[in-house]
Amino acid sequence: MSNIVKKREYKDYNEYTTHQIEKTADPERRARLLQKFRFNEKVLYFKEKFQRFLDKANFGQTVCLGARMGEEIEALLQLGVDCYGVDLVPHPPHVREGDFQDLHFIEDGTVDTFYTNSLDHSSDPEKVFSEVSRCLKEGGTFILDYFPGHWEDHAASYIEAPDQFFVNMKHETVLINSDVVSTMSNTAWELVFKKVENPIERARINKWSDMKFKGFLNRTRFKM
Ligand SMILES: C[S@@+](CC[C@H](N)C(=O)[O-])C[C@H]1O[C@@H](n2cnc3c(N)ncnc32)[C@H](O)[C@@H]1O
Repeated sequence: MSNIVKKREYKDYNEYTTHQIEKTADPERRARLLQKFRFNEKVLYFKEKFQRFLDKANFGQTVCLGARMGEEIEALLQLGVDCYGVDLVPHPPHVREGDFQDLHFIEDGTVDTFYTNSLDHSSDPEKVFSEVSRCLKEGGTFILDYFPGHWEDHAASYIEAPDQFFVNMKHETVLINSDVVSTMSNTAWELVFKKVENPIERARINKWSDMKFKGFLNRTRFKM
């Protein structure tokens, strides 16, 4: 994992989760995020975003990782998607307690679509990828909004060489699209992965998609 820069040094896994839980559970922060205007504005943003995917991905059973107060869940529910969130801090009824680095409560091959914009809060992004890959159905989609170099205060890691990370550590998923998008707080890379179980088919897709991704990195002038 040489290309994962630890933004913070945690003594052990417990210290990592405790730190993430402390800031997410902060009552003042939660009250601020729940203010009607703020919450609804974010729901609208997510609705517009997911609408772009409705005819491209099968949203069947959808799971959002690191969903905090659940704005992305609310947006998907309003679009008629069967969806729930996972976060270290639960927010009932739609965000359940769980660690996106260990999704043991989700059976293999049962999820149609995953979404996350919280990968920079993971201490081990490879584990998130391996869990997503395990839980996705064949042909299922993983939509990732990733903030390259976005050193958010509470982020845990930063992927320094995304060409290596996203090219080599996808497990059974392949990268099918990469784009630069504006989010409500920053500019993100919108990366879309698809699960392909057949290794020959996966290798075939990887060949062109890895090249395309390297072109994307050059165009976005990402400094490594
Ligand atoms: C920047 S917030 C994003 C919240 C939400 N997706 C949004 O757009 O408002 C990152 C979230 O990731 C959660 N998180 C951090 N580490 C996690 C882990 N290992 N498993 C599940 N959630 C985690 C935090 O608790 C926090 O709610």
